[in-house]
Amino acid sequence: MSAAAGWIAAPGTALSGTLQLPGDKSISHRAVMLGAIAEGTTRIRGFLEGEDTRATARVFSQLGVRIEAPSAGERIVHGVGLHGLRAADAILDCGNAGTGMRLLAGLLAGQSFDSTLAGDESLSRRPMRRVIEPLAAMGARIDSEPGGLPPLRIHGGARLRGVDIATPVASAQVKSALLLAGLYADGETVVREAHPTRDYTERMLAAFGWPIAYGPGFACLQGGQRLTAIDVDVPADFSSAAFFIVAATLLPGSRLRLASIGMNPRRTGLLEALRAMGADIREENRREQGGEPVADLVVSHAPLHGIDVPEDIVPDMIDEFPILFVAAACAKGRTRVSGAAELRVKESDRIATMAAGLRALGIRVDELPDGAVIEGGPLRGGTVDSHGDHRIAMSLAVAAQRAEGAVSIADVANVATSFPGFVALARQAGMQLRD
Ligand code: S3P
Repeated sequence: MSAAAGWIAAPGTALSGTLQLPGDKSISHRAVMLGAIAEGTTRIRGFLEGEDTRATARVFSQLGVRIEAPSAGERIVHGVGLHGLRAADAILDCGNAGTGMRLLAGLLAGQSFDSTLAGDESLSRRPMRRVIEPLAAMGARIDSEPGGLPPLRIHGGARLRGVDIATPVASAQVKSALLLAGLYADGETVVREAHPTRDYTERMLAAFGWPIAYGPGFACLQGGQRLTAIDVDVPADFSSAAFFIVAATLLPGSRLRLASIGMNPRRTGLLEALRAMGADIREENRREQGGEPVADLVVSHAPLHGIDVPEDIVPDMIDEFPILFVAAACAKGRTRVSGAAELRVKESDRIATMAAGLRALGIRVDELPDGAVIEGGPLRGGTVDSHGDHRIAMSLAVAAQRAEGAVSIADVANVATSFPGFVALARQAGMQLRD
């Protein structure tokens, strides 16, 4: 598909059946990273075959790690141990992935060799000072382009020391970068967060045998231990499920089952928001898979009403605002989002991009510096642009299911970064979508 690729989405009918969704992106990145620096062979099942996570796997191949892909969704990572990575002979390309670049910045800051991390046009505009500055406080030496932008040149051979640090923004990526640098640091690294964020790095370090103390808003580890390879069973990505949760909620007559969805409480804030709006989402078969809570979700159509989204759940649904905006556009009354300025520095400025997209479909959206006020109403057909942002493209495809006419969505190629196969699954469920 070319960069200018687009979709035509048409008004949809009821969604039904059972969907198996792709693996969690955050966990897939981390499984490759920790597997690479562990001792032994890590087998990953349910690995997300997205461009972002494949870019991370390619980076570790460049750093001398042998990674086999015996089948789709499976990786065997032959770990080289904490000090076994070797210098790459080229730039390390993280593609579209903020997670890849920020976590790698922490991990590579502790190596004996130099590395350069680069990314695509969107990633090249994303702020990196949030990792550069706290890593510098640990002794790391990282150069960037003016304004703290990629590429990042990471100087090897720095002697890292543990710090006790409060993250400047609620970001699991920043926290994780510091913890990964902390593996290589002298002494203790303590990361504190005013708003707790997803704790996959902490859980996975513990599962690989690295002693770590953590809880909401707090993580603490000592440098100089070792990681021991494990098998990682990746649950389905809640953020991919989110598009179908909202689509089934919005389309009359729908009843859709989403199998084995990762239910980490730091990811599922959207459920809280949607239930407050009137959604009917049931959780069945709650269980543990690879140390993570998972459940099957059964979503039935329900009429929604607008709410003020509580600011304290913003970090727990940080990737779900584009689709929440769609739910709000189809709800009765007004929805207000605030405390979400981070949305302006995601793969696109998600407040501005969603406001423009929904306005083009006839919805009133007032932007706030840190959110938006959305007035629910009828959607009409039209032409919208995702600005290369995967989650915006998929959210607008869901919005189109409730429009009065066809919607043409431009610039959708990046959907492959997180959700290859979205169009096929959407059509399988009953959505009207074609490329
Ligand atoms: C992620 C953390 C979040 C999220 C991103 C994945 C992670 O970013 O938006 O999609 O895997 O740690 P921030 O931590 O920067 O909010």
